[in-house]
Amino acid sequence: MQILTTVKELRAWSRAQRCGANGEGIALVPTMGALHAGHASLIRAAAEARPARVAATIFVNPTQFGPNEDYARYPRTFKADCALAEREGATVIFAPSVEEMYPAGGSTFVEVEGLSDRLDGQSRPGHFRGVATVVAKLMIAAEADLAFFGQKDAAQVAVLRRMVADLRLGTTILVCPIVREADGLALSSRNAYLGPGERKQALVLSRVIRRVEALAAGGERTSSSLIDAAHRVLAEEPEVRVDYIELVDWETLWPVLTVGPGTLFAIAAWVGGTRLIDNTVIG
Ligand code: PAJ
Repeated sequence: MQILTTVKELRAWSRAQRCGANGEGIALVPTMGALHAGHASLIRAAAEARPARVAATIFVNPTQFGPNEDYARYPRTFKADCALAEREGATVIFAPSVEEMYPAGGSTFVEVEGLSDRLDGQSRPGHFRGVATVVAKLMIAAEADLAFFGQKDAAQVAVLRRMVADLRLGTTILVCPIVREADGLALSSRNAYLGPGERKQALVLSRVIRRVEALAAGGERTSSSLIDAAHRVLAEEPEVRVDYIELVDWETLWPVLTVGPGTLFAIAAWVGGTRLIDNTVIG
């Protein structure tokens, strides 16, 4: 498995694949590294999307972190990441420097208006501008046919779908289900920050998800009832602080009063100093 570090190399690699006898498609799997089974599921899905060649990218993107967030201490496990990516079927790793992705003097950003201020974008101003900008750069550099993302970051998916449609990027977005620990906790690179007590408290998020899913399966359709029930479950862990609990349309991220097809239930909460998210699509 090759490791590429410049946009020029990535583009040349992508074009060389297309010159092959089969005219291979390019599947992109953008990540920030510290890879776990959730990332592995995306790489595997991309590798299975034959005849795609898989470019997994590892780049801790500074522009999507706020000034007081964890950019500096974000876990970096490059060697182990390469081994995992190769095992799951990545053809190449793209691991550029910050200067490579953001040339000196650069002033071009991608702003997906409206959507970027919702859910995580509301509590993390500028976050989705950074995400959209780096993903657009990666899709363009790789000339990607397919790009794989996790439902784990459901608001991110909505923002990126809008971006790809608006810019007519020609990359098809595919979304993979949330991978969880056996006890229900959604896998996240940030779970590494949790102490043993916090790890236990964090389980309340998946309990909230299961409760809402059960109520919805039982026929509850009223958003306020589902959200009240979610708050009651969250209150079982008084030290966990809610950031948001919302029922929204997954395409627009706009709140809905009644659950219908494509309704996203999403939660974000602070466990100690760690912000965790989880969600489920109901209706
Ligand atoms: P990162 O947090 O590394 O996640 C990379 C991809 O893995 C995302 O699409 C995310 O939704 C997916 N993922 C994370 N945890 C998952 C889980 N438990 N189950 C399934 N998929 C999971 O998301 C980002 O990086 C960045 O914002 C990025 C898109 C790379 C842009 O910098």
